[in-house]
Formats: sequence, structure tokens, C-alpha cells
Amino acid sequence: MSTTRNILLTETERSLAASFPASFHWGAATASYQIEGATREDGRGPSIWDAFSETPGKVYQGHTGEVAADHYHRMAEDVALMAKLGLDSYRFSIAWPRILPKGTGAINEKGLDFYDRLVDALLAHQIQPYVTLYHWDLPLTLHQRGGWLSRETAFAFADYAEIVARRLGDRVKHWITLNEPWCSAYLGYAVGVHAPGMQDRQAAVNAGHHLLLAHGLAVPRVRAASPDCKLGLALNLGPRYPGDDRPETARDLDRADMFANRWLLDPLYRGSYPAQLFELMELDAPPIEEGDLTIISTPIDFLGLNYYTRAVVYGQEQPPHPDACKESNPADATYTAMQWEIFPQGLRDMLVRLHQEYHIPSLYITENGAAFNDTWNGGETISDPGRVSYLRDHIAAVADAIRDGAPVDGYFVWSLMDNFEWAYGYDKRFGIVYVDYESQQRVIKESGRWYAQHIAAFHDIHRPL
Ligand code: FCB
Repeated sequence: MSTTRNILLTETERSLAASFPASFHWGAATASYQIEGATREDGRGPSIWDAFSETPGKVYQGHTGEVAADHYHRMAEDVALMAKLGLDSYRFSIAWPRILPKGTGAINEKGLDFYDRLVDALLAHQIQPYVTLYHWDLPLTLHQRGGWLSRETAFAFADYAEIVARRLGDRVKHWITLNEPWCSAYLGYAVGVHAPGMQDRQAAVNAGHHLLLAHGLAVPRVRAASPDCKLGLALNLGPRYPGDDRPETARDLDRADMFANRWLLDPLYRGSYPAQLFELMELDAPPIEEGDLTIISTPIDFLGLNYYTRAVVYGQEQPPHPDACKESNPADATYTAMQWEIFPQGLRDMLVRLHQEYHIPSLYITENGAAFNDTWNGGETISDPGRVSYLRDHIAAVADAIRDGAPVDGYFVWSLMDNFEWAYGYDKRFGIVYVDYESQQRVIKESGRWYAQHIAAFHDIHRPL
């Protein structure tokens, strides 16, 4: 196969592929605003990311998702590319403002038709769709009515989720309600580097609560409309490690972990926010109404883990807010173009922890990957050895986690192709496929070839005799 030319797996890599159970899934992930473009076509309404990226100074060099990777027009070609790579699963997200241009009310059939065709194209290639219902592109009208600060948005999300599940639920068997609500809430409402760009910590914890509520309200609605489906959500979690053995470090490590990981895990899996979190942040608790935590902790089938890096915590003399702990990574470590430390063991550790502490029955790595400064010389492929090792070493960490008992069912590379990397615009490339934005040509990188070979080796081993 031409995708797999030039790279041969080593013996160690072949045995890595062989160590995964036959039922394991291999895929790649994308998100609507990052790849689709066509933001004004076929009745799509504006989202908070259109408004944010059009605001001067918010996104690198004023980039927007208006064209992105033009996937809306190149969907068939992109699905063929996935098939060429040998993916058995594809995680993508639905743009809420394509389905309901104003967030609620009138349905835009053309929006549903697009995803309908995408699902059919995937299934025609034996690729299972994993559908994320919300990957950050909130309809702008809903933002103008309060966005995630309004409880109403949670109910609007559940209505929208049901509309999508009714249309696609006969064929889609895996649903992810929300992508990284931590980022939507904290980066969007406290730090302001993501849409809608607010800078108010209290707003962030309130938004976080409404996002969780949206998830919980959507669960029964999707289940009812999509018989026999599996449902979960995707969280960005990052393990924290102590930088030294001072007692202040142990104290701050606990605070940092509470904020980065337990803030959302605990309400979802234990039905309560971590005791003291809001107090230690010197904020009010979010507006929790009776029954909310029961709704939020409605059992789900799997958890998606988005894993990129870890953080090392150093205690401060004065106890910090949980969201202001001192974190820094070793100077002698290896970093990606995002300046994220490459630390595969963190993936193993987090998977094992989710299994041991939260007893999660099924785990997926819904995102894992790396940005490097890839350049294309017009040739047939692109050399990205850093990404090849990143993927191999993280896949090996997943194998370790499975060996240590974690019930991991699949792995999705972030990302299938280069795309609009939020505030970094097109400056950061995460794809295993290169996108030349001028011509919109796709070129499989060596990491894509490596991944294709890895998947092929996995199938060779599991092929029935
Ligand atoms: C995650 C996002 C994804 C992508 C990666 C690099 O936080 O879910 O859309 O931007 O980071």
C-alpha cells in the first residue's frame, strides 16, 4: 500500500501493535470549527468562535475558521483518506449552529444533511463514527442570551442533542456530549483566551456547572433517540507530579489536581464537587439547584480522555488558589511546538487512576497528539520524526495502562489533519496529514504512514486464520 511505503515497523513496534486486544479501536479526531470552513453556507448561523476570531488581537494573525481545511466541501476526499490510513473509527463534532442557526427553534435541514452524508460515507468505508455534540462552537444567539452563564443554555443543548440523535442515531452508536468542558469554562470565561473571551473566575465556575448540567440533561435524550448507543464525554485531564518533597508542595499538588482534574471528574463520577474547591478559590459555589448533581452524575458508558502533557507542582509559601499553583516542567525535557512537555507516562498514570479511583468501566483516548513545525517541500511526504515518536511512545503508554488493568477501548490521534488551532490559528500543526492551506492539498506525513502501518500490523496479528 502506498501509504505505508518507506517506513517499516521495528520488531518492538510490531509487538506493541500485537499487545492490544482484538476489540481495540484505532481512529483520528477533528472538530467542526477547526476543519469545516463554509461558516456562512447552507444556512449555518454564527458561533462564538466566529465572533471571537473576528475580534482583532484574539487569534494569531487574525486567522479565522472561515475556510479552515475546507472539509465541508472536501468531505468525500477526507473520508477516502481515512480509509487509506486504515482507520476503523473517526471522531468528529457537529456544529450546533449548522443544525439550529439560532441555537434553538428552527431546524436547518441542510446542516443535518451534511452530517448525514458524512456518517453514510464513513460507514461505507467501515469507519465507525464517534460524534461529539459540542466542541466549542456555541451559537452566537445563545451567547447573546447569556451563553453558558445561563441555565437555559443547558436545556437548549439537550434539545439540540436530541434533534441530532433522532436524525443520526440509527447509524451512530457512539456519542460524546461535550468536548473538554474545563476549557470551555475556564479558558473561555476566566482566562479569556478562548471564546467568548471573558475574564471572570466566578463566571467560569458558573459556566462549568451549566456545561455539566447540559451533559447530564442530554444523556437520557440521546439514549432514547439512539437505541443501543454508547455515550460519554471527553475531558482534558493532566496528571500533576510533585517537584520536591516539601509539605507545601504536597498541599499545592492536591490543590492543583483538584482544579485541573477533580473539579469536573468528581461531580460526574461522585455526584459532588470536591469539598473546599470553591472556598479555596475564594469564590461562591456555582448556582446548583436541587437535583443538579444527580442529573450530572447520570451513569454514562465511557469516558474520553484527551491527554497531551503533565505538570510539575512546586509549593509556594503562601497557600495559593487552586487555579494559581506554581507549575513548571523540567528544563531538560523534550517539548512540542506548543511548549508542552512530552511525557507519555502521564497518559498511563491517568488511565490507571481513572480505573482505580473512579472505577470507570470503559475509557477511550479521545485525543492525543503533538504539534511540530512541519514543512512541506512539495514532495510526496513530510518528515515528522518527532510526531512518530510521540505517537509510538504514547501508544506504548496505553499498552502499559491496559496491562495494569485500565479498561481502554480505543485511541484517537489528534488530529487527522492540520487545522485551525484555536487562539494559535493555523500556526500550529497537529495533523498526521499535512494541509497546504493555499491549495488545500492533503499530504500524508510520515507519522500518518507510521500510524497506518501500526494499524495494519494490529490487523495482521488479529486476522482470523
Ligand atoms: C484540545 C482540543 C482540540 C485541539 C487540541 C490540540 O484541547 O480539544 O480541539 O485543539 O487541544
